[in-house]
Amino acid sequence: MARDRRFRSQEWFDNPGNPGMTALYVERYQNHGYTREELQSGRPMIGIAQTGSDLAPCNKIHVFLAERMKMGIRDAGGVPIEFPVHPIQETGKRPTAALDRNLAYLGLVEVLHGYPIDGVILTTGCDKTTPAMLMGAATVDLPAICLNGGPMLDGWWRGRLAGSGTIIWESRRLLGEGLIDYPEFMERVCAAAPSLGHCNTMGTASTMNALAEALGMMLPGTAQIPAPYKARMDAAYHTGRRIVDMVKEDLRPSKIITRKAVENAIMVNTAIGGSTNAPPHIAAIARHAGVEISICDWQAIGYDLPLLVNMQPAGSHLGEGFHRAGGVAAVMGEMRAAGLLHGDALTVTGGTVEDNVGARRSTDRDVIRPVSEPLREKAGFLVLTGNLFESALMKTSVISEDFRTRYLQHPGAEGVHEARAIVFEGPEDYHHRINDPSLQIAADCMLFIRGVGPVGYPGSAEVVNMQPPDALLQMGVNHLPTVGDGRQSGTSESPSILNASPEAAIGGGLAFIRTGDRVKLDLNAGRLDLLVDAAEFEARRAAWSPPDLRNQTPWQELYRAHVGQLSDGGCLEFATAYRRAAEALPRDNH
Ligand code: FES
Ligand code: MG
Repeated sequence: MARDRRFRSQEWFDNPGNPGMTALYVERYQNHGYTREELQSGRPMIGIAQTGSDLAPCNKIHVFLAERMKMGIRDAGGVPIEFPVHPIQETGKRPTAALDRNLAYLGLVEVLHGYPIDGVILTTGCDKTTPAMLMGAATVDLPAICLNGGPMLDGWWRGRLAGSGTIIWESRRLLGEGLIDYPEFMERVCAAAPSLGHCNTMGTASTMNALAEALGMMLPGTAQIPAPYKARMDAAYHTGRRIVDMVKEDLRPSKIITRKAVENAIMVNTAIGGSTNAPPHIAAIARHAGVEISICDWQAIGYDLPLLVNMQPAGSHLGEGFHRAGGVAAVMGEMRAAGLLHGDALTVTGGTVEDNVGARRSTDRDVIRPVSEPLREKAGFLVLTGNLFESALMKTSVISEDFRTRYLQHPGAEGVHEARAIVFEGPEDYHHRINDPSLQIAADCMLFIRGVGPVGYPGSAEVVNMQPPDALLQMGVNHLPTVGDGRQSGTSESPSILNASPEAAIGGGLAFIRTGDRVKLDLNAGRLDLLVDAAEFEARRAAWSPPDLRNQTPWQELYRAHVGQLSDGGCLEFATAYRRAAEALPRDNH
């Protein structure tokens, strides 16, 4: 095969300057089946970063898709080389899979930098796998392309669509109200997951894969293909073919993940009703790519845009319906038709966003609306501030009419709500005390949870969507306003105030609130404030001492020592200084 240029992997396999090491590299990769011709004729070596395994069921489909990726790579003249990624299973890892995003990131950077790899397919799916892979590719800056494993088939329960995750929150309420028993609870939840694939709701997995496509890092139209569909196999094959050409074109993440691409991701997130986990993940990807982004960009760029995708938890459909209506490419096409998005942003196809999606439209307007007939206007995130935190997010697309009327529309003061605070020290304390009558939790209360941020938990837990006590549920109060320095599942329909930064564990304002305090939420001013005078606030701060944080593993200690806040992406702060780690070759090892 003709060499267009010398690839990085040839420094390993074809380096006459160090014949001893070249021979060692060649003989050991040969011994597992590659020929000398494959290793030494200047073909690009294409890594397949494999995130699927028995431990990572959401991504297990990639174990089978790898076959199709490899065929595509070979047909385009590359040599595939599959390697394992540290598993990040949202529903398997304790204390939280969020702790593992940065660990998988570190591992991927080290592999891509230190092995003979010229380009890489990032296999994505379950929540944190997508950002972990993109963060690693951004740091290393080798040609890279995402392949999603795809959502599960739609779940059904007694003739109704049952979405993964979302059905848990609904069923937990029914259990609390005494309307279902535990065996039915289990049946309902399991019905929502009928096949291989990741969550079929617009939770964090579907969100982050949609945003990978919006960033330009995935073949257009592929984010939403359900895992078992044959089109998913096609996408794997074409992704394999495309990455080989990307290597030849030297099309690297630094050319794709630009400020414009990040703004496109923020805009698309509003249109799809995306997860509140998107801001920290997108911030982390952007920072590792060297793109400046602030938490305020989410409101400035994303808030005024409409919700177009009618998918749970903000709407009613699931992944199959969204795919059949045209998926993310159709959403972007509808947005372009209304003059939204940066059409000139470059993508993995080598073409621009406009080239890829300019002509795509929704094929089912009940599922994907045009911009002129949205499901909801001004559907983005609000970024709040106040004396309890510098920033926190609120997802407005999930605010129900009942919640809006009860908490956000007082006569003459729309958007202002005063409440009595009930404070929990983490999820164990919440579960232990939520039904304690002595707390006198009523409809005018606001629930707070702290100690659940990146440092406090560690990793930041998805626990802010706290359910009201059973007694209130039985009275028909399904949601209380909730606030916390942790996160919540992207499958939750709670309009919580979350990702509060800085977190209580490092002395953020939430550390100083007490049960019984009065707080004021003013959405017009974008503030949540503890109503105590300044002297009292300062006295509490002076009396505060940091919590005793116990690490259970060495990684937890390392993570806590270096992690930043959710508003800044929860990155390993020192790691954001590394750029283009593949550009300088690692030293030879003899
Ligand atoms: Fe893996 Fe939802 S738990 S995608
Ligand atoms: Mg989750």
